[in-house]
Amino acid sequence: MGGTDDKAAEDFRALLRGLRVRESGELPAFDPATAPREPLPLFRRWLREAAEAGVPGPHTMMLATADAEGRPSVRTVMLHDADEQGWHFGTHRTSRKGRELAVRPYAALGFDWTEQGRQVRIGGRVTAAGPEESAADLRGRSPAALTAALAGGGRQSEVLGSYEELVRAFEAARERVEREPDATAPSWTLYVLAADEVEFYQEEERRRHVRLRYRRAGEGEDGGWRRELLWP
Ligand SMILES: Cc1cc2nc3c(=O)[nH]c(=O)nc-3n(C[C@H](O)[C@H](O)[C@H](O)COP(=O)(O)O)c2cc1C
Repeated sequence: MGGTDDKAAEDFRALLRGLRVRESGELPAFDPATAPREPLPLFRRWLREAAEAGVPGPHTMMLATADAEGRPSVRTVMLHDADEQGWHFGTHRTSRKGRELAVRPYAALGFDWTEQGRQVRIGGRVTAAGPEESAADLRGRSPAALTAALAGGGRQSEVLGSYEELVRAFEAARERVEREPDATAPSWTLYVLAADEVEFYQEEERRRHVRLRYRRAGEGEDGGWRRELLWP
């Protein structure tokens, strides 16, 4: 029994050692001396370049929150916008992350554009938008997204009795969206993370990776942001 377990564990480790992050190929060059004074234009450019390079789901990101005791949790969500207000995403305020944000309104985001050797991470304070803006956010999504938001009925992250229950709720929600395409899901909430830190990471073939961190600085200081290189 132990032997089989040992073999499975060894096979797994061998698999990990044999995996490559990407096919070898040229990585984009990143000269931090040409980086803009503020992080937003650079973030938008890198996201566009990821999309153009065919990175799958470049607008998906990891969202980390913490509970009242400071214990972190992380999950994937979609980026709905990035503008002067911050980074926008939508979820149910009754979900685990929504409840955590209500207690501790700080979060971190992580974008992984592995094919280009790029990573961006962002941290800051999160604000929940009001019902009208939140409803407008959901209206801007697909009918399938609205169906999913309605089907849950604010129960995201709660224990589900059986999968059949979910299938029935989706069927009812799908019929409702057909009748009422402007229906709203009251728990759906638009959140905006106002960054106080944004870090851009560009891998380099010889592992001389470039890390450029923007941190909010005092008013008037270099466009309100301080730029620093970090050891990789
Ligand atoms: C690619 C992908 C995109 C997702 N986008 C969202 C999203 O935009 N909003 C959302 O509430 N959940 C999204 N999810 C589901 C979340 O990862 C998560 O399972 C759910 O929100 C519950 O998280 P919580 O229990 O930590 O609150 C997405 C999952 C994947 C795999």
